[in-house]
Order: sequence, then C-alpha cells, then structure tokens
Amino acid sequence: MGPAAPRVTIATGEVYRERPVSIQSLPVNRGSAATRLARVAFLGDLNGAPGRRILTATIDRLRDEYRPDLVIANAENLRNGSGLTPDLYKAIRNLGIDGVTLGDHVYRDRRIVPLLEDPAEPISRPANLSRHAPGKRWFRLPLPAEAGGGEFLVLSVLGRVGMSLPANDPFETVDLALEKNPGVAGSLVDLHMEATAEKAAVAFHLDGRVSMAVGTHTHVPTADARVLRGGTAFQTDVGMCGPFDSIIGRDPEPVLRHMRTSVHTPYGMGEGDERLCGTVVEFRAGTGRASRITPFQYAE
Ligand SMILES: [Fe+2]
Ligand SMILES: [Fe+2]
Repeated sequence: MGPAAPRVTIATGEVYRERPVSIQSLPVNRGSAATRLARVAFLGDLNGAPGRRILTATIDRLRDEYRPDLVIANAENLRNGSGLTPDLYKAIRNLGIDGVTLGDHVYRDRRIVPLLEDPAEPISRPANLSRHAPGKRWFRLPLPAEAGGGEFLVLSVLGRVGMSLPANDPFETVDLALEKNPGVAGSLVDLHMEATAEKAAVAFHLDGRVSMAVGTHTHVPTADARVLRGGTAFQTDVGMCGPFDSIIGRDPEPVLRHMRTSVHTPYGMGEGDERLCGTVVEFRAGTGRASRITPFQYAE
C-alpha cells in the first residue's frame, strides 16, 4: 500500500451552510415569539381542464385544513397540458392562487409573455434560462403581519438532466437569485427537474438558505418530504394537480401507441380520478427556517 490518501471532505450541507450567500440570517423581519409561524402551500403542475376542475372543487378544503398565508402553484401544464394563457392565469388567480411558477412548457403559448414581463404580476419564467429569454426570473409576495411580515421570494429553476429545454447551471442561478434578494422573510424554489438526484443536489445546495425547495415536472408525488438539517423543507416532487387515471396527465391510448410503434400522434389530456397534489410548509418568517412539511392530496 502506498501512502494514505488525504482525507476528503465530502461536500454536504455542512460545507454550504458556511457559504457567504445567505438571505435568511439577516437581522430584518426576524419575527418574534408573539407571531405565529408562516404557512405556504405549493401545488404541483396544474394540468389542463381536469386540473382546474379539481382546484376549483377542493381549494376551499385546503384553505380550511391548513390556513395557508400564500398559495403558490406551478401552472406550466394548465393550457390543455402544455403552457399557460393569460385567461387561465387570471382564472386561477381569481380562485386564490397568489403566485405562479412555470417550467419547460413556459413559452408554449406566447400570449403569456406580457404577463411574465409585467413587474406587478406574480408569475415568473424559470430563472436559469438565457438572460435574453423574456420574463421575470422571480417575484416577491408580502406575508401577513401576524405571520411575521416581510416578503416571500418565489422562483423556479429547470434541471439539466433529461430535459428538452436547455438551461443554465441551476446552482449558480439560485445563488444569484439569493444575492439579488437580500433580507426576504422566506423563500420557495421550485425544482422543475426530471432527475431525482439533481433535485436533491440543488435542495442540499440550498439547505439553510431557503424555506422550501420543492420539486415539480415528473407529476408523481414522492414519499420523501422532510426538513433538511439546515432548515430547508424538501420534497422531490409534490405531484400534479390533474387526472391520475392517465399517464402522468395524458390520455394513455396515444402515449402507448407512440411508445410501442414510435409513430407520434398528439397526446390528449387524460381524464378521471382527479387529484390536487401539493405540500404545505411552516416556517419562521425572518430566519426563513422551516419546521414542518406536510404533503397533501385532495380528491372529489
Ligand atoms: Fe409538468
Ligand atoms: Fe415540466
């Protein structure tokens, strides 16, 4: 045997917690013991008309059960399974969705671009596209005073593994987003990615620096919700809001024909067994640290 190999320090959350980029340890909006914890609900990919139907049918139950201060939703599939229109955006805002994230289907309907560029509208494109891509990279929403006040930062990032829309480094992008938004009371990063390991890697990179790192895009809820050591709530995928009697939202028949014959035919929406999938995170506004993550699933 040769000389002992030097000890290697594996880069875990321990390393990253020492990094200088932190938005949640600043002495602003720290919250006092008198204020209760803030609660943010996040809904996974709203999928077509069935997704909107189940949202309409069950959002009041979600509100009654968890009393969220904010409800954020990924709506990249709301337009018949792909993209988002201004009318559909307004419809879900009227149903009580406070902010909207998007994924790889962001520009499938280009009529959404003016809303993406409007600083007053709480909707953003994935933050790690080219700087020439239209639209805001993040937005901020006020938290109520009784939940500690301050502003809540929201953004999504695309993965680089197995995704059809090329994107820049999500790790560098989340660092930049935190640098550009100092002093927020809490934050949500929507991990819009295919690969489970990539989602976990970005979540560990963010541990202790955001309140919730929550996955979308695969449309399947995962049973791994937990609060990481640094205080970031993480779930690999919160699941879609749409028809479970389907292949991740799509009519099984054309999907099967495509996969078995290699001949592509347009995929229609699936239908039946609609569910509203998401997760609720409790955190202390100011430090931004999460104390609880609770996935939910509502059916009619
Ligand atoms: Fe999706
Ligand atoms: Fe997606």
